[in-house]
Amino acid sequence: MTSPLQAYLVERIRRHGPMPFAAYMQLALYHPQHGYYAGGGIRTGWNGHFVTSAELDPGFGRLWTTAFEEIWELAGRPARFDLIEIGPGEGGFAKAVLEAATGDFAEALRLRLIERTPDNEARQRELLKPVSNVTWHRSLAEAPRGAAGCLFANEVLDNLPVHLVESHGGEIYEVCVEADEDALKTTLRPPSNPELANFLKRCGVVLGDGRRFEIALAAESLVAHASSRFERGAWIFVDYGMEAQELAERPEGSLVCYSAGGPDDLPLVDPGTKDVTVHANWTSLRAALRGAGQEVRGPLTQRSVLKRLGLDDLHQDLKDLHAEAISSRRGAAALRALSRRQALGALADPQGLGGLGVMVGTRGVASPSFV
Ligand SMILES: C[S@@+](CC[C@H](N)C(=O)[O-])C[C@H]1O[C@@H](n2cnc3c(N)ncnc32)[C@H](O)[C@@H]1O
Repeated sequence: MTSPLQAYLVERIRRHGPMPFAAYMQLALYHPQHGYYAGGGIRTGWNGHFVTSAELDPGFGRLWTTAFEEIWELAGRPARFDLIEIGPGEGGFAKAVLEAATGDFAEALRLRLIERTPDNEARQRELLKPVSNVTWHRSLAEAPRGAAGCLFANEVLDNLPVHLVESHGGEIYEVCVEADEDALKTTLRPPSNPELANFLKRCGVVLGDGRRFEIALAAESLVAHASSRFERGAWIFVDYGMEAQELAERPEGSLVCYSAGGPDDLPLVDPGTKDVTVHANWTSLRAALRGAGQEVRGPLTQRSVLKRLGLDDLHQDLKDLHAEAISSRRGAAALRALSRRQALGALADPQGLGGLGVMVGTRGVASPSFV
């Protein structure tokens, strides 16, 4: 039995011909009814298919709130400060930020959640109520322009559709998806768009024969939209990523799928039932942020950034809480503190979430201390 989305795609390709992989990935993730994300199921957190930092522990949002407050200070403590979160998932990050913000910063903070899926928005509203300083938008373009703010995107870049190209005999071909009976398979075609070759040039990549490379045009366009939302502040991206040259040296690229059954490398099998991810391309992201007039730092590891934001102090607070709960024989509180300490350890684990990359662009403010 194939997935409903596979049946739809086979039919569509039969009628209209092969589609670029980017169009395929867009539908696999964001087809309004059957897309892995747009379908509205719970994907992140303990009830989903994988746990992100945002859902693992509120400490993640709390530590990042320190960074947002610093940017607000550097921006001159404006009376209104927009924090735009793209792809808030189950809302754990937003909740933690709202709980951690205090004083004049909390007064100035306007949280803008960019959520494309109505079912996700409904769950986020339920989690975050009652709150007055949160607004939902379907796209970045809908968020009003402000003077000062911060944009945050955790594990979003890796879910933006990419074109795939391959080099054969000195020519660049585009990987497209075609139908073979009821199955889907790849086919090589001349590039659908001159921007594919331009992207390779912009990244300074000369692709070795037989190599495959992911062309992240959607990430570039997201940066352009994101940069225009406010004049001064910071744009923060947390993701698995590599420099363009490192990506070019991986013969098959970085694409991996995740589902309830674990990881696989079969994006064309049962689309809509699995996440399709690629590594962020830091070289391209850096150039796009600089192109928007930003100064760029990173990627640094999540581990090092969280440490600069006060991870060790938070760890110590939980240790004290744990000891205090044990001495006053409050078993549940002691266990909670212990499991949160372990969660903080996982956020900083260099082999796991701590190894994620953090890239920060700033414009109109001095260098923040956390990068
Ligand atoms: C891997 S999930 C991460 C969710 C959340 N940030 C977290 O860390 O738990 C990626 C999310 O980004 C969303 N997304 C991708 N591109 C987006 C865009 N252009 N605008 C808004 N959301 C987007 C997806 O729909 C998905 O919900």
